Amino acid sequence: MTLDLIRLPKAELHLHIEGTLEPETVLELADTNGVRLPFADEDALRAAYDFANLQEFLDLYYAAMATVVTADDFYTMTARYYERAAAQGVRHAEIFLDPQAHLSRGVRWEVMMDGVAAAVADAERRHGITGGIIACILRDRPVAEALATYESIRADRDRFLGIGLDSAELPYPPELFADLWQQAKRDGFKVVAHAGEEGPAAYIWTALDALGVDRVDHGIRAVDDPALVGVLAERRVPLTVCPLSNVALKTVPDLGHHPLLTLLEQDVVVTVNSDDPAYFGGYVGENYLAMRVAGMTDAQAVRLAHHSVDASFADADRKAALHAEIDAFAG
Ligand code: ADE
Ligand code: ZN
Repeated sequence: MTLDLIRLPKAELHLHIEGTLEPETVLELADTNGVRLPFADEDALRAAYDFANLQEFLDLYYAAMATVVTADDFYTMTARYYERAAAQGVRHAEIFLDPQAHLSRGVRWEVMMDGVAAAVADAERRHGITGGIIACILRDRPVAEALATYESIRADRDRFLGIGLDSAELPYPPELFADLWQQAKRDGFKVVAHAGEEGPAAYIWTALDALGVDRVDHGIRAVDDPALVGVLAERRVPLTVCPLSNVALKTVPDLGHHPLLTLLEQDVVVTVNSDDPAYFGGYVGENYLAMRVAGMTDAQAVRLAHHSVDASFADADRKAALHAEIDAFAG
C-alpha cells in the first residue's frame, strides 16, 4: 500500500505566514478594512498568480498582506494556516513572519505580535502543533532598518525562536547582514537565511561562513557546487526545500528536474516545505505528493519526514516523540 503522504507526521520549517493568505481571506479582509486592491473578485486575484520570477511574486505578496490590519486579522491569518496544517500531518511548525512589511505600513508591533502569537499558542492547545515564530529581516531594505527591527525582536525575545533573512535575493548577499547575525547568535537566537533560491551557490557559502546559519532556506543552487554539497552533508546543515515554490517561481524548469532527491541521495539533510502555499498550488502535504510524481519513493518520503524533525529547533524529547510518531505511521 502506498503511504498517505498528506497525513504522514511531519514538521514544517519554511512557511511564510503571510504566504498562507488565500484569495478569499484577502478579499474578506480588504472588504472589512476598506483596503482597495486592483482585483474585482477571487477569480481575478487567482489569475494574477502567474509569476515569471521571485520579484513578481513578492510584488503581489506584499500588496495582498496590506489587507491584514488588526490583531484579529493577524490571528485569523495564522489560525487558518494551522487548521490546514493540522489536516496535513504537521506536528511542529516554525513559521516565518515579516515584521518590516507590516511596521512599514503603519501596523504597530503589539498588534502584529498579539494576533500571531495568540494563534501559535492556540494551535498547540487545539491541534498539538508545537513550534514557534522566526522573524525574518527583509534583505532588500536598508541594513539600518534591519538593526532597528532586530532591537524590537530582542525586546520581545520570548516570542521568537530565531531570525531569518528573506525577500528579493539578488543582489543582496548574506554577508551584508553578518554583524547582525553574529549578534543574534550571541543573544541566543537560532539563525537561518534564504540563500540559493534565485541567487548563486556563493550565497549559500556566505550564509554558512559569514552568517553561521543553523539551516539554509531553499539552498537548491547547492547542486551547482559539489564541494558545497559535501560541506552541507558533512556539517549536517539542513536545507528547507520548497518544490512547488521553485516551479512556480521558475527557479527549476519542472518537478522532474528538481534537485531535492539528488541532494537527499548525496546525504544532505533536505526537508520538504511549502514556502507560500496559498500562491504556489499547495500546502506541505501537496509538496510531498508533487515529489512522488517526480519519482520519490515512500522510503524517501519517510526519510524526508525524519529529516524535518532532525532539522527543527524542537527539544530532544519532542524530537524523539515526533520520530516515534513517524515510525508508527509508516509501519
Ligand atoms: N518571502 C516570501 N516568500 C519568499 C521567497 N520564496 N523567497 C524570498 N522571500 C520570500
Ligand atoms: Zn521562503
